[in-house]
Amino acid sequence: MGAAKPAVEFRDIDIAYGKFVAVRDFSLSIRKGSFVTLLGPSGCGKTTILRSIAGLVDISGGQIMIDGRRVDDVPIYRRNIGLVFQSYALFPHKTVFDNVAFGLKYRNVPKPEIARKVGQALDMVRLPGSEKKLPSQLSGGQQQRIALARAIVFEPQVLLLDEPLSALDANMREEMRVEIKKIQKATGITAIFVTHDQEEALSMSDRIVVMNAGSVEQIGTPEEVYERPATAFVADFLGKANMLAGTVSRSDSTTAVALAAGQTVDVMSPRPLAPGSKVTVVVRPQKLSVGAAASGNRLSGRVVSTSYLGGSAIYEIDIGGKTSVRANAPINGRVAREGEAIEVGFDPGGCVLLDESGQRIS
Ligand SMILES: Nc1ncnc2c1ncn2[C@@H]1O[C@H](COP(=O)(O)OP(=O)(O)OP(=O)(O)O)[C@@H](O)[C@H]1O
Ligand SMILES: [Mg+2]
Repeated sequence: MGAAKPAVEFRDIDIAYGKFVAVRDFSLSIRKGSFVTLLGPSGCGKTTILRSIAGLVDISGGQIMIDGRRVDDVPIYRRNIGLVFQSYALFPHKTVFDNVAFGLKYRNVPKPEIARKVGQALDMVRLPGSEKKLPSQLSGGQQQRIALARAIVFEPQVLLLDEPLSALDANMREEMRVEIKKIQKATGITAIFVTHDQEEALSMSDRIVVMNAGSVEQIGTPEEVYERPATAFVADFLGKANMLAGTVSRSDSTTAVALAAGQTVDVMSPRPLAPGSKVTVVVRPQKLSVGAAASGNRLSGRVVSTSYLGGSAIYEIDIGGKTSVRANAPINGRVAREGEAIEVGFDPGGCVLLDESGQRIS
């Protein structure tokens, strides 16, 4: 009731390159001022969707609405959209000022206002006073800040960011994540961000759209897609979940699952399941407790490998039947060694159940 119009809305869009359908039945509604991430493996159609918003690729079915208006027939130059790409795509022979001013000149903004707005945008990306520099005199991270300034300077309705951090080194990436979020919040701009990096998606987004082969697998907050993956694909793509195959042996207030690995676990199911049903128990590495701390369902295993991370360690633990699990557990006492016998545990509610077709049981 009284909800504001979505900033961007896709209604069942299809996009084809010749005979190849790159995006199928894609629907998504993006709230004004929110930060939405398209996350998925290479080739799943993320860039194609961004290009469709900008008018750089035609849709073959469905509708795209920006601020409640159909834009199918609106040409690129009439759409008010900021773009940042993976490669900085700055004009190499133009100064920072001219690079950032580009979209304003193009829109016939008066000169004094251009100078003021460029100054503001450079303040925003924390590169004040860099107007006279050339892109070649800036670091990769700085160039990407200029690209960001260029994209926001004309106050676009939507900011599109296509893997803007992937050309940067690890430290710079983390810094820029925080920076981009800050700028997005401060300007209140609606942002659509593309990445195939799950950490980037989880840390930056209000909502994540997990895509696979041109279609949506799940849309939700970072917590929802991580904690309650809707499909096996989402569970696996976001954070290397443990997927334990098994068969329901009893189901009433809790559900007993006989794992293919040979042990039986007790889990919470949203509803009773028929004994004999094939299910997959999905448990995140962080939900597994190990050693003396093992609680809930306890499985005996043997340490296959250990990666020490400081406060915690990642263990690969063989639990029999050619099945191993990955646990990410805080270190209490000492780090377990390879070959050592060890218990792993998880609470009955610390997992999600998938049915035979890989859909979450709800
Ligand atoms: N111009 C084009 N002509 C033909 N096929 C294309 C074209 N552009 C993209 N495709 C195909 O469409 C599919 C989606 O491509 P898209 O670039 O949207 O993927 P992506 O999710 O952005 O991948 P990446 O993470 O590698 O950037 C891919 O299979 C790709 O090969
Ligand atoms: Mg892409």
